[in-house]
Amino acid sequence: MNIDELKSVAGAIVAKQKGVLAADESNPTIKKRFESIKLESTEENRRRYRELLFTTDGIERYISGVILFDETLRQTSREGTPFAKLLSSRGIIPGIKVDKGAKALALYPSDKVTEGLDGLRERLAEYRQLGARFAKWRAVIQIDEHDVPAAYAMRANAHELARYAAICQEADIVPIVEPEVLMDGTHGIDRCEAVTSQMLESLFAELDAHHVVLEGILLKPNMVIAGMKCARQASVQQVAEASVRCLSRHVPAAVPGIVFLSGGQSAEDATDHLNAINIVGAKSPWQLSFSYGRALQAPVLAAWRGQEGNVAAAQKVFLKRCRLNGLAREGKYNRTMEAATEQPIS
Ligand code: 13P
Repeated sequence: MNIDELKSVAGAIVAKQKGVLAADESNPTIKKRFESIKLESTEENRRRYRELLFTTDGIERYISGVILFDETLRQTSREGTPFAKLLSSRGIIPGIKVDKGAKALALYPSDKVTEGLDGLRERLAEYRQLGARFAKWRAVIQIDEHDVPAAYAMRANAHELARYAAICQEADIVPIVEPEVLMDGTHGIDRCEAVTSQMLESLFAELDAHHVVLEGILLKPNMVIAGMKCARQASVQQVAEASVRCLSRHVPAAVPGIVFLSGGQSAEDATDHLNAINIVGAKSPWQLSFSYGRALQAPVLAAWRGQEGNVAAAQKVFLKRCRLNGLAREGKYNRTMEAATEQPIS
């Protein structure tokens, strides 16, 4: 394990003003996203879409890394340049999703556990050769009104995340550790905070037991937020305060950065929340950044709709979302910027 390399890659991913584009949708997930714009999910359409994202001029000011799916890491631009090479040549670090998805946890009918550890060491060696310098593993924690998630399900997911993180560090690949407490449901923000706290506690105990070096990981958590169907939605300020409080109680200062997922928030909410989190958490020991999938891509897909003639307009939308999240990362965003056409920040 080369700890200096791990630290340097993790630090570069959470450099000032920058965050991560999660473009690692599995084929079933991207199929769902394409259905929303009535586009067939062929290998070529997936390639065209990822090419649109990765060739957008100017995103390198705000995007430090891109998480790819296995298929995408093996694809090329229309000129034949491998995507990983194209991204690296622009100063953007390629990453790879390595989990194989959340499956039902046996004998716990409402909980899930993420699979994908078998053969991971060998896969990582190949991914590194293909250019990946960081990885992602997503655990999924569902909340319901009663006894879900089970404490055991959280421990099982924490154990898998820690094994994954250790295997990544052994291969000199920075693990992004993602314990996602889902926003689905009617629960309030307090319950989200309690479950997120318990999950983080289990996670850091397991990371410690697995000898994972915290200076060489990034944490990708949910924000502490009310369930989407909760009648009492929390304000932006409440989300920021609860998120920073929860993280400062449970995330050691040695972790270099926290890169939030967007989890189904609208693009504007995800940016606004990140901005408020950076203001409330200005004195935090870790960088507070983003690793958004839907919140960066939903407006881009809507502008593109699969049409070649819409590529330039979709890229403009994409650059705008990257720029606004770059500002939010510094606590310099406000919602009036959504309407304005502004110059990139230097
Ligand atoms: P969302 O921002 O759409 O939640 O996706 C981030 C991600 O990578 C989930 O694993």
